[in-house]
Amino acid sequence: AKSLAVLTSGGDAPGMNAAVRAVVRAGIYSGFTVYGVYKGYNGLLNHDIKEMNLRSVSDILSRGGTILFTARSKKFMQVEYQQQAADYCRSLDIEGLVVIGGDGSFKGARALSNAGIPCVALPGTIDNDIACTDYTIGFDTAMNTAVEMIDKIRDTAQSHDRCSVVEVMGRHCGDIALETGIAVGATAIIVPEIEYDLERDVISRIYEQKDTGKKHFIVIVAEGVGGSQEISHYIQHRTGIETRATILGHVQRGGSPTLRDRVMATKMGVAAVDLLAKGVGNRVIASHEGKIVDYDITEALDMPRKFNNELYEVAMKVSI
Ligand code: F6P
Repeated sequence: AKSLAVLTSGGDAPGMNAAVRAVVRAGIYSGFTVYGVYKGYNGLLNHDIKEMNLRSVSDILSRGGTILFTARSKKFMQVEYQQQAADYCRSLDIEGLVVIGGDGSFKGARALSNAGIPCVALPGTIDNDIACTDYTIGFDTAMNTAVEMIDKIRDTAQSHDRCSVVEVMGRHCGDIALETGIAVGATAIIVPEIEYDLERDVISRIYEQKDTGKKHFIVIVAEGVGGSQEISHYIQHRTGIETRATILGHVQRGGSPTLRDRVMATKMGVAAVDLLAKGVGNRVIASHEGKIVDYDITEALDMPRKFNNELYEVAMKVSI
């Protein structure tokens, strides 16, 4: 029987389950047998796969994590193992594979497509760091979690007239920091895409706001900048304001996906199956100005990422 498979790879993201569900349901709807592959690409090497039915994906739409588990497979970077995985797919009549993950996972999807198994990749990462798409599955949930946490931090910063430095995830990408910073009314937002100077971009902003009566401060630091503990010490030393640092960490990776992530994951999952049903592979599904589109994987990986400088300026105009 004609078959499809689906796997999740790389760091997990809320909404991956919603995407898995969409692929399984749309695949069965289109007449395919659909397999779930466990632990990313490793499942194809270890033959760790299971046939899914309509009910295998019941009650997962609202759950964080990934029921298929995930891994960052080093082995799969080698041609020998890519061939092995392709042979295994052929032995099961798998005509297409949906890969949900970040750009590391896209490279695996390209390799497997070249080895004869058409793959379609979905952007699944909280970081929103994929150039070809306006949006990655998990981004909205991660930010909403961060906002909820930072609102709590603000309560205690306010009670104590303190400054709180909060480090959010995003790897080399400042998008989580930027939007979260706007949503919590941060005094300063430090991201890897914009050169910063602590005196100009943090200390003087705090002094100016202090002069107008502000007594507690939130400073958002993107993971790609790092050093939040040192930044916190510096602020305390330079301003005399008691300062604490919090690294939010993996709370941002979990939790029930927001409406936006569930709907986006569903639309992208269905679009991936539509392509594979036409025999089209080596593509990435993306969101572009509100529409679902797709790109060749190499073309997608070569696109330069643009930081939203206008949004950064918006943030700076209101956090005064
Ligand atoms: O890509 C998601 C992400 O959470 C990044 O924001 C972060 O840099 C990285 O993964 C953390 O990886 P790990 O889960 O291996 O600690």
